[in-house]
Amino acid sequence: MSTEFLLEARDVHRAFGATRALRGASVEVARSEILAVMGPSGSGKSTLLHCLAGIYRPDQEEIIFDGTRVDTLSEAKRTELRRDAFGFVFQFGQLVPELTALDNVALPLLLAKTPRKQAYAQAAPWLERLGLDDHATHRSGELSGGQAQRVALARALVHRPRVLFADEPTGALDTLTGENVMNLLVNAAREEGITVVLVTHDARVAAYADREIVVRDGRALTTPSSAVA
Ligand SMILES: Nc1ncnc2c1ncn2[C@@H]1O[C@H](COP(=O)(O)OP(=O)(O)O)[C@@H](O)[C@H]1O
Ligand SMILES: [Mg+2]
Repeated sequence: MSTEFLLEARDVHRAFGATRALRGASVEVARSEILAVMGPSGSGKSTLLHCLAGIYRPDQEEIIFDGTRVDTLSEAKRTELRRDAFGFVFQFGQLVPELTALDNVALPLLLAKTPRKQAYAQAAPWLERLGLDDHATHRSGELSGGQAQRVALARALVHRPRVLFADEPTGALDTLTGENVMNLLVNAAREEGITVVLVTHDARVAAYADREIVVRDGRALTTPSSAVA
């Protein structure tokens, strides 16, 4: 089996009732690549991300991660894969508001049964790295949008995932705050060699990526020229 790409979708179909969200989408993501997935609202970007990440099971054809079929794995195995190998950042941080920033970052490690002391020792430097050491003991519900998104980023990276999936990670932020979050995301990914699948409809955000694809009507177009029209 080819191991040229770290992550692949091959002719993926996925419907929600009568809505055919994906109609034969194929994507190849190289190791350590930062790939932007662009396209209009409703074109299937988030569905594609969820399929690549093993959250949704496609109706048809394959998702391959590191040479392994993901779409045929059991629910339990896919949960394990997501927990161990993938990190996620969504438009709204989806932090636990009652917990502190530091607790939120440590949480995935604790859920993966990392001893408490080690989990916190691993989480703290990430807050520092993302410029949030002053906010470690703040309840995350009290943070600004940009601060919360940086905590979400720290939480997504703390277990050193192989792939970071980001769905409109700056969609709820103003331009300047969004640029700050994107700079932190891209720098961290490059330093750690983490592969990134970045869904955005914002060309300024996509400009941070190594390469972009465009999703239209549930299909992925890989060449910029075919994206026009
Ligand atoms: N959970 C869902 N239930 C029903 N329809 C959905 C669901 N998720 C997405 N869709 C539909 O699938 C299509 C693609 O959605 P989505 O992948 O979210 O697009 P995008 O992220 O590009 O805006 C849309 O028509 C959307 O309404
Ligand atoms: Mg979406």
